[in-house]
Amino acid sequence: MRLICAKNYQDMSRKAANLISAQVILCPESVLGLATGSTPIGIYRQLISWYEKGDVDFSKAVSINLDEYCGLSPRDPQSYSCFMHQNFFDHINIDKKNTFVASGMGDFEANARELEEKVREGGAADLQLLGIGNNGHIAFNEASDHLIAVAHTEKLTESTINANARFFEKKEDVPTMAITMGMGDILAAKKVVLAATGLAKVPAIKGLIMDDVITTQNPSTMLKMHEDAVVVIDRELADAVGYRA
Ligand code: F6R
Repeated sequence: MRLICAKNYQDMSRKAANLISAQVILCPESVLGLATGSTPIGIYRQLISWYEKGDVDFSKAVSINLDEYCGLSPRDPQSYSCFMHQNFFDHINIDKKNTFVASGMGDFEANARELEEKVREGGAADLQLLGIGNNGHIAFNEASDHLIAVAHTEKLTESTINANARFFEKKEDVPTMAITMGMGDILAAKKVVLAATGLAKVPAIKGLIMDDVITTQNPSTMLKMHEDAVVVIDRELADAVGYRA
């Protein structure tokens, strides 16, 4: 695992975006695994700006998103499908037919199977972008005594519901279930880029970068087994976990 320490959120976004744009420039047909949440917004903004300048071309890229809330339609502004369109897909030249966000409507188990099929059909992601939950979750693989390898439905923990309540009018509106790629799907990616910022991530990032333990109670620690995982954090977070470059 390699660690990149950025000056601040903007610098973290630019550094992570650099890794993604390098991937797409080197291999325009790349399969990108994409994440939502507040962390990657700056990364998507940076990629959009480079696309507008003609520096990166997404026309041949394929994308698969990590997860989606159960019970939200793709038109719901809180859905991850809507997030991806608003924050990224609508502003670049990716072919929308080559993007996939699991459906959060109807038969959730069938939707999870469809996500797993997509992951297998497209092959392992060339680059998987990740955020990290306050409890160390990756996609919605929650801290638990076991993790699931393949795409599945997951009951969200109280910690995740509380953290995500900031995006909703009230806590009761936060979905309690999600469809998520499994840990095996994520670890199969050829390259993983995890971005993290903010002091709420201190316990999770401490477990990821400051000790040698791998535990399902902090799913991000599974990345210690990945051959090409890059963690990009900002200085404030690095200082708070006691990391010295
Ligand atoms: C979202 C996802 C989640 C988030 C995590 C952090 O697609 O996979 O694991 O990355 O919950 O969210 P933020 O960035 O909002 O702190």
